[in-house]
Amino acid sequence: MKLSRRLKRIETFIPPGSRVADIGSDHGYLAMDLMVNRLAAHVVATDKNPGPVKKLKRNIARRKLTGAVEVLQTDGMRHLDPSVDVVIIAGMGGLLIRDILFESLSAALEVGKLILQPMSQSDKLRRFLLDHGFMICEEAVVFEDERFYEILVAARGSQRFENPLDFEISPVLIRNLDEDGRLFLTHRLALLGRIAKDIEENSKDPVKLRQLRRRMGKYEEVLSREDQYREGHQST
Ligand SMILES: C[S@@+](CC[C@H](N)C(=O)[O-])C[C@H]1O[C@@H](n2cnc3c(N)ncnc32)[C@H](O)[C@@H]1O
Repeated sequence: MKLSRRLKRIETFIPPGSRVADIGSDHGYLAMDLMVNRLAAHVVATDKNPGPVKKLKRNIARRKLTGAVEVLQTDGMRHLDPSVDVVIIAGMGGLLIRDILFESLSAALEVGKLILQPMSQSDKLRRFLLDHGFMICEEAVVFEDERFYEILVAARGSQRFENPLDFEISPVLIRNLDEDGRLFLTHRLALLGRIAKDIEENSKDPVKLRQLRRRMGKYEEVLSREDQYREGHQST
């Protein structure tokens, strides 16, 4: 079983010996890999829908892991055992992840570590986390199969972002920007550039253009700071 780069990167955030819940596990690849490679002490793989749960059980049985990976059909973090210390919610929209956390807020605040991998709207998820008693401890971006995947690691805590654009261009990601993270920011900047060009040529909406240029300016600032930092490190 070869795990994707995205799921492998998620694994790197799990402290050894953790009791893990993989919410919305679907195929169960991550949950199974954690047990096969002894990267967790216990894993429960959950899913809300009967189809994925059937697939999950079939995959687990095929790899002779029945009993080693617990399976639970449930919505979100309902019925989460309090002994779970790492919760993974990956491969879902940012708003769905937000709703799952909000619905079980007091339980989510008790979990040692949340590893969240939103497929969209990560800015709204960051805002939700900071508004509801969490802090974002680490972030990463993985580039795989022609797309970027954002990973947010959160825990109970208090954190403020000074600039509204920080929810889109996270200071936590920028802190440890690697090659995939840099590519991600460059890609986003190019995307915004194309949108700005389209507005300039068509609607010419001055408010939208101003907003876009402000966002582009922030990406440019971060990328040029990174360039300078790299150059400084290469010459020492
Ligand atoms: C695209 S799959 C992601 C699978 C895996 N986590 C990954 O990252 O590769 C999303 C899964 O989440 C499940 N799901 C959606 N809403 C859910 C909820 N509220 N609670 C639990 N599972 C949910 C779906 O049934 C589906 O199997």
